[in-house]
Amino acid sequence: MDVEEMQREIDQVIGRERIPTMEDRKSLPFTDAVIHEVQRYMDIVPLSVPHYATRDISFRGYVIPKDTVIIPLLHSVLRDEGHWESPWTFNPNHFLDANGNFKKCPAFMPFSAGKRSCVGESLARMELFLFIVSLLQKFSFTSPTGPDSVDLSPELSSFANMPRYYQLIASPR
Ligand code: HEM
Repeated sequence: MDVEEMQREIDQVIGRERIPTMEDRKSLPFTDAVIHEVQRYMDIVPLSVPHYATRDISFRGYVIPKDTVIIPLLHSVLRDEGHWESPWTFNPNHFLDANGNFKKCPAFMPFSAGKRSCVGESLARMELFLFIVSLLQKFSFTSPTGPDSVDLSPELSSFANMPRYYQLIASPR
């Protein structure tokens, strides 16, 4: 359903011939919302990367002593009930306002936050947008074993929630 809605939006804004550019993103709010929701829901790096206090730090009334290892739990932010209407459900409306415009959310931090957040964020976000839009522009995707057979639960590696391998059929549109 979401994919068909994305393809309708892409057809209207870009058509099937022109190569998508980053300028198109603001005209594709639903597509942008789905891509954001995929990153929120998949929660790829749930524990971020361990950090280390190089000096005593005072934070919201707590003292974090020098040499403490800090594990920023991005997972808890991406599933925070105070920020997301339905944290455990895939729901692109998390990133859409009542008029269907794209809406930013401060709890969207799959790339972490602060001075040491991911330096590849802009590149990764451009790649995700251009790859997904280009693929949906030209192909329809189905599962050989039916849509309900795709297991969305992650495969745990040492520190990442990796998507599972599965087969897809890509049919030219
Ligand atoms: C969807 C894709 C990506 C996700 C979800 C992601 C996520 C993250 C996260 C959570 C961190 C830890 C930040 C922290 O320590 O607080 C990180 C760090 C980093 N990422 Fe990414 N990343 C992605 C793509 C990329 C790409 C494409 C590049 C390079 C072109 C990249 C380069 C780096 C580097 C160099 C760091 C270390 C930054 C530092 O310690 O100062 N990442 N990333």
